[in-house]
Amino acid sequence: MTAAMPGALSDTAFAVRRDAVAAETEALLDRLLASDIQTGEWTRPARLLEAMRYATLGGGKRLRPLLVVETAALFGAPRAQALMAGAALECVHCYSLVHDDLPAMDDDALRRGRPTLHRAFDEATAILAGDALLTFAFDVMARPETHPDPDIRAALVLELARAAGLGGMAGGQMLDLAAEGRFGQGRPMTEADVLTLQAMKTGALLTFACRIGAILGRVAPDISAEISRFGLALGRAFQVADDLLDVEGDATLVGKATGKDASAGKATLVSLLGVEGAKQRLAALVAEAENALQHFGADAGMLRAIVHFVAARKM
Ligand code: IPE
Ligand code: IPE
Ligand code: MG
Ligand code: MG
Ligand code: MG
Repeated sequence: MTAAMPGALSDTAFAVRRDAVAAETEALLDRLLASDIQTGEWTRPARLLEAMRYATLGGGKRLRPLLVVETAALFGAPRAQALMAGAALECVHCYSLVHDDLPAMDDDALRRGRPTLHRAFDEATAILAGDALLTFAFDVMARPETHPDPDIRAALVLELARAAGLGGMAGGQMLDLAAEGRFGQGRPMTEADVLTLQAMKTGALLTFACRIGAILGRVAPDISAEISRFGLALGRAFQVADDLLDVEGDATLVGKATGKDASAGKATLVSLLGVEGAKQRLAALVAEAENALQHFGADAGMLRAIVHFVAARKM
């Protein structure tokens, strides 16, 4: 039921724009991680670079780069800069998946329809490839090609560090493990606890993805706050959809194992609200994300389409 919203995109127009960003991101990551990569004077161990390429190339929805490119477009920032920043962020995301799949974490064998990195290579290589991808992200973000103004680059690097670290993704992953009851029986997880951990483990990088366009476009703080509100609602919607896919998804389509959260006894919005309750929450979050875009009118048609894609995704 997509009523005649001005600037609404057809499914085909959305898919064309999404696929273009995915293809450009793939080509850029392939160039950035080329076999003759230059990153200082020492040798570059071929096995480590191969593992980094395995983790980043040839898969994934590239949702974060898409958000970067489309918010940058909304704020009139150059696409080439957005693609660089999006590629840097995607390196952090790919590293987070590699470590998330490790035996000590979720112990998964399948990712993006292929063996996880530690299965295709070995555990030590997967740990190091994650480390190297995380640091490589800052290398890419800090390059003049990402933005000519060093103040903008410093702002991007600082926000990336905050989104990825203790108070962001890594901290959220820690709380997520606690949500499986791993570190002893504390008090039971409440809905507020789950919302916090999800805002950190998934929401922080997705919110930052949306903020990058605002930073590149040097927008005023009130506009930047609106786009952060959008990113947070989108991030929450994304994680509820991920938790629903874990229960209802087709593992062949999602390209990763399903049923993991329940078997780990993990507190999620699905475990707390039930499948129907989680679906209602997802619908409310879609409305909240759309509401945050009101200010931008028809220009935000693509961001609106991304919200619906995130909520309806089967992969
Ligand atoms: C999966 O993220 C991990 C979570 C944050 C829940 P995506 O669903 O964006 O994974 P890819 O990049 O498309 O594989
Ligand atoms: C992981 O959440 C989020 C990350 C920061 C990587 P999940 O553990 O639910 O992600 P999937 O389901 O394995 O992709
Ligand atoms: Mg996990
Ligand atoms: Mg996992
Ligand atoms: Mg999951």
